[in-house]
Parts: sequence; structure tokens; C-alpha cells
Amino acid sequence: MERWEDHVAVVTGASSGMGAAIFESLALAGFIVIGLARRVNLIQDIIDKQKPDVASRMHAHYCDVRLPESVDTAFEYINSSFGGIDVLINNAGIIRTGNLIDMNLTDIHDTIQTNLFGYIYWSRKAAASLIERNATGHIIQINSVTGFYVPRNVGFSVNAYPISKFGLTALKDVLAEELNLIGNRNIKVTSINPGSVDTPIWDSLGMTVDVETSLKPEDIADTVLYILQTPRNVHIKELTISAVGDKW
Ligand SMILES: *[C@@H]1O[C@H](CO)[C@@H](O)[C@H](O)[C@H]1NC(C)=O
Ligand SMILES: *[C@@H]1O[C@H](CO)[C@@H](O)[C@H](O)[C@H]1NC(C)=O
Ligand SMILES: *[C@@H]1O[C@H](CO)[C@@H](O)[C@H](O)[C@H]1NC(C)=O
Repeated sequence: MERWEDHVAVVTGASSGMGAAIFESLALAGFIVIGLARRVNLIQDIIDKQKPDVASRMHAHYCDVRLPESVDTAFEYINSSFGGIDVLINNAGIIRTGNLIDMNLTDIHDTIQTNLFGYIYWSRKAAASLIERNATGHIIQINSVTGFYVPRNVGFSVNAYPISKFGLTALKDVLAEELNLIGNRNIKVTSINPGSVDTPIWDSLGMTVDVETSLKPEDIADTVLYILQTPRNVHIKELTISAVGDKW
């Protein structure tokens, strides 16, 4: 990981679940990491648990990824305090209950604004920051296996969630294509597609996760480190990962 030492990584949705695990593991690997979420106090709790040298590389900042103004403000803070973004981990995601046909429209908007627009807003910031500095970087989208199929026979509707995640599957290819068009070979774009992971997202569905057939958030953090460590000429575009026996 030496080549990333003291480089700047940004993790959205860093207050819990996969984002929290990635936030911590990137700091342990030597990155300067900015964790973003609405619940900044939860990110601060993660920082407070670390040894001083690791904690000194970790920063908590407010961001509501649904709102372009909030992304602008958080980015200005990162750009002026740390000089830009080298690695972006787009991770903030939500799921709401209900049927697409008759659920509250606000819940549909929130899902697509968080899971899809939030990723688009932050990808644009990271790409602009990398391109203007001609820097080497990596944009990693935490997608989902529902980025390429809609779960069936699970007893409830996952409504707008896979709709947002299918969009992310295209987003990573659109970004990669645009980088090809301008001849940029310094920025990699990767989509990670986890199956079931033991995170608080299941609570919002009122479900208990099957821990036997689910990954831990740390497994996804390890996957991120693996992807970041590939040689310069190696581009993992997509990585699908599930626990053994996972039904999703
Ligand atoms: C939809 O949800 C929003 C936000 O929770 C709420 O303000 C609104 O009243 C709800 N609309 C309906 C029709 O239930
Ligand atoms: C980051 O800050 C620098 C220095 O102020 C500025 O030139 C640059 O345009 C900013 N980057 C973006 C992407 O806004
Ligand atoms: C940008 O970086 C690449 C590789 O790091 C280098 O080959 C290229 O010359 C740089 N471009 C400019 C305009 O400095």
C-alpha cells in the first residue's frame, strides 16, 4: 500500500456498516481519510476508538449526498484542507419498504437520490479533482448484486433499490468511457457488487440478517484494499462477492 501512503480517500456513508469498516481500514492502511455522513457523531465515535497516529489521519464531515449543495460544501472543505481527492469510495446507500406502485414518492426519491445521484455527484467531484491535478486515483462504487438482477421470491418488494443500483452498473462504464475518450489512464473505476452483508440496512427492511450466509463489512473493506493494491496496469472493473451459501 506504500504508493497510497498519505493520499486522500473519501468514504460516503462512513457512519455505519460497510462505510464504517472501509473508513477504518483505509486509515490503518496509511490513507488520510475523510468519512462523510449525516450522522457525523457516529463517525467521530469510530475515530475516537483508534490509536492516536491512526486517528490523526481520520476526519469526520457532514454530507447529505442527496443534495448537490451539500456535496459542494463538503468537497470545498476537502479540497481546501487536503488538496483534493485521490480515492473515492461511493458507499452511502438506503433502502425503504413498500411497493413501487403505491409507496410514498418521497421514499422513492430518497432512494434514487442517495443511491444513484449521490454517487454521480461525488464521482464528478473526484474525477474533476484527479484530472485537474493529473493525479493517479481510483473511484470505487459499492454497488450490489441487485445492480444486475432484481431479487424474486423473497416475499417483499425491493422497489426502487435495484433501479438505483442498475444505474450504478452503467455509471462505472460511462465514467471509464469518458476517461478513455480524454486519454486518461491514471484513474480506475471499479464497481463492487456484494451479496448479503451483515449491516444495519437490514433493519430498515425490518429483517434479521442470516449471518451464516452473509459477509461482514470487514470483508468488503478487505476487497477495497485488494482492488487498490492491484498494479498500475491492472483494472478490476467489476467484482461480485458473496458469502458461501448466500441466496441473494
Ligand atoms: C411522504 O413522506 C414524507 C416524508 O416522510 C411526509 O412528509 C409525507 O407526508 C408523506 N406523504 C404521504 C402522502 O404519506
Ligand atoms: C480545488 O482547489 C484549487 C485551489 O483553490 C482550485 O484551483 C480547484 O479548481 C479546486 N478543484 C475543484 C475540482 O473545484
Ligand atoms: C499525466 O500523468 C501521466 C502518467 O502519470 C504522464 O505520462 C503524463 O505526461 C501527464 N500529463 C501531463 C499533462 O502532465
